[in-house]
Amino acid sequence: MHKPIKGFSKLSKEAKIEWIANEMFQDPNKAWETLKSYWHTDEKTQKLHDDFIENTVTNYFLPFGVAPNFLINGKHYTIPMAIEESSVVAAASKAAQFWMNRGGFKTTIVSTTKIGHVHFIYSGDTAKLENLVERINSKFYEDTREITANMRARGGGILSIRLRNKTDELDGYYQLEVRFETCDSMGANFINSCLEQFAKTLTNAVEADESMTAEEKDIQIVMCILSNYTPECLVRSEVSCPISELNADAGITPEEFAQKFQRAVKIAEIEPYRATTHNKGIMNGIDAVVLATGNDFRAIEAACHTYASRTGKYSSLTHCTIEDGTFRFWIEVPMSLGVVGGLTTLHPMVKFALEMLGKPNAEELMGIIASSGLAQNFAALRALTTTGIQKGHMKMHLFNILNQLEATEEEKKQIVTFFTDKVPHHRDVVNKFCELRGIKNTSEVFKNK
Ligand code: MEV
Repeated sequence: MHKPIKGFSKLSKEAKIEWIANEMFQDPNKAWETLKSYWHTDEKTQKLHDDFIENTVTNYFLPFGVAPNFLINGKHYTIPMAIEESSVVAAASKAAQFWMNRGGFKTTIVSTTKIGHVHFIYSGDTAKLENLVERINSKFYEDTREITANMRARGGGILSIRLRNKTDELDGYYQLEVRFETCDSMGANFINSCLEQFAKTLTNAVEADESMTAEEKDIQIVMCILSNYTPECLVRSEVSCPISELNADAGITPEEFAQKFQRAVKIAEIEPYRATTHNKGIMNGIDAVVLATGNDFRAIEAACHTYASRTGKYSSLTHCTIEDGTFRFWIEVPMSLGVVGGLTTLHPMVKFALEMLGKPNAEELMGIIASSGLAQNFAALRALTTTGIQKGHMKMHLFNILNQLEATEEEKKQIVTFFTDKVPHHRDVVNKFCELRGIKNTSEVFKNK
């Protein structure tokens, strides 16, 4: 066990690495080399990454893949995806291709409103507080005029401010609940700055209110923060086609496929165990694009899962109907995103991703990302309800196994050919590899790896 350290963040990057390498690694030189090998060769680009967070010692690579052939609202996109899971890009591409030939994805922006709160405690007459908040409504807008100037110029700003009485759930607990339009930015800093000013405006008004008692004047601001739950910043993406066009390629009729598929969705609608995995697959598609476009995937994840629980029971984010010979499959998800601010103008790969998408505005990007989630779910359910998931998964995972085994390019070629018509289970791949190398004892191959 290593000793704790004081003032770590003040050390130079080299000194930080020196400490890590010497304290935690058997071979400090090797540790140094590993970290250094991931530094960008261009010093300026590396410095940019160093400055994104505190205590950067190197970069952490994720594959940046692309899924072509997404037809969304009549426009073709090649979608950037940053993700480590081997089958995700392949699945998205396959589903995109399938739906491209059936009219593509149609998206609708349901709403774009974001919400933030000043959470505070007030012990006193609720009517007095209600009256005060109503009286100072325009003061809230006045006091934030400078903060909101740029946003208002872009067509956004504060939409509404209201007092919410939550005292039946927590003693003395009230909120100022504020709705915002943040246009092309995610708006976290903008919202939080406004909320912090609202807290000051409220505190000052309470202080100056002559009708309030000393106890009533003693309001306590608990916190001012946006909510990552954005059920009013909502996007829908849908695919549909005549059932007869649902060629499942798995020895079943399109009608059987449609029924099986719909049943799989219904199971996710009613069974939280399945809904969690079902939605996880959707997030495979969503998070990968959110990350590639420099957005906050934790915020999107949090919002989507809360939305999936909005009825009080965790459920599917996608839905499916079969009516009058038409198969319809859609997703509706909260999606608070930005295409300006944050990493979007700083990270070279984020700029690349956004340009590859044709520099979409926030609403267009909401639709692209929802479609990626829907495509991913379609691909997963199609595989699950027909061939099973392992066939495709293991095929994509085969290269990870071969890399673990440190197979040569020639060995990889031979093994991939061998498994063309078979599911490459780990054990079988190792056996095949050993057979090629003439290794008798298969446990030998993982020694020292
Ligand atoms: C794996 O990352 C995602 C799936 O489990 C999703 C699903 O089961 O729907 C394949």
